[in-house]
Amino acid sequence: MATRRVIGAEHIEAARRRGRLTLEILPDDILTPLAEETAARLGLALVQGPIERAAVARSDGATSLRRALHRRSPKWVAPKPVPPREARKLGKLALVGSGGVGATIGLLAAQAGLARDIALIDITPGLAEAIALDLSHASGISRSETRIQGSTSFDLIKQADVVVVTAGRPRTPGMTRTDLMAANRRVIRNVAEAIKTVAPLSIVIVVTNPLDEMTAEMLQATGFPRERILGMAGTLDSSRFRQALAKAAGVTAADVEAICLGAHGDEMVPIISRALIKGRPLDVFLSKDAIDEAKRDAVAGGGQVVALRKTGSATLAPAYATIELIDHIRGARAGAVPVSVMLKGEFGLHGVVLGVPCELGSRGLAAIDELTLSEDERTALSGAAQAVRARLGESGS
Ligand code: 2OP
Repeated sequence: MATRRVIGAEHIEAARRRGRLTLEILPDDILTPLAEETAARLGLALVQGPIERAAVARSDGATSLRRALHRRSPKWVAPKPVPPREARKLGKLALVGSGGVGATIGLLAAQAGLARDIALIDITPGLAEAIALDLSHASGISRSETRIQGSTSFDLIKQADVVVVTAGRPRTPGMTRTDLMAANRRVIRNVAEAIKTVAPLSIVIVVTNPLDEMTAEMLQATGFPRERILGMAGTLDSSRFRQALAKAAGVTAADVEAICLGAHGDEMVPIISRALIKGRPLDVFLSKDAIDEAKRDAVAGGGQVVALRKTGSATLAPAYATIELIDHIRGARAGAVPVSVMLKGEFGLHGVVLGVPCELGSRGLAAIDELTLSEDERTALSGAAQAVRARLGESGS
């Protein structure tokens, strides 16, 4: 049995010497009468414990953005509390591409029970069916009620609420995401044609690389409104950035709030001006060199996985980052998250797909939050826009 703590007058005196004005007394503590008397004499309040501790700060993209958005000046206005929401269960989640990312999204989605049906599609005969069967076999343990099916045919995505597209070639060592442009453009056009015909009301999340360009391609090829074509990269890049900052500062990622905007690649824009570690600016914990190193890590994170793996790119973190978007769409999370969308004047940019803070809902993009950025960050965002346009062979402002 654990020994009970005896609190005597000497503990009270020591606490006062350390400048303490309160002392937590736990239910099992033995408090001597002299200790009580000393506390009263020295003005130390004895507080009945256990005292409820503040919850650990959450550092997902939406929370980071909400804090950043409202940390403007001494005149800042406290954000309205986000009303609790009832998360909507999707009818059908379709996953076009059943490689590592698609299969892991399927696993996480089935585990979370976020859709009634999951449809997996892949052109490789048997692959989607195998993943669907394998995942279904796990339901005897997970007790997941989600119905999972796989097929080579796009007919299976009929009436999907959300279609996640991971189909296409992944990178191998030495390749940039842009090297995939020609091959994956053809894939996206084919997939877009099928989505347009079979699931014309769906929200599409593009994961295929090069991300911003393939999102633009999907938008053009489906002719869907920009609200329903979302590119997943910002939630992934932001997660990598928070992890890199946490590692450099010797804290956990839960202590870090930071986001990445811009393009998914070399023109990524990690937002330093709004990043926090344990609620304080980065330079309280890290040197400029360490911050620059964390920025480089965020940009290079995907490539580091490719270099180690040799046969393909990251699968686990991209799957989590996609689920984060689906959770925003179905109302399980609130606030803005970085998503690649077509810009129509926001941040001074027009007619280009780029990662910016977006609020999502049951119809896809609900609003773009025009975060106040530093001069350098705005310039970097414009640079990213120019690079995406150049890669798509466009010119413009
Ligand atoms: C990544 O950054 C696959 O582009 C993806 O890992």
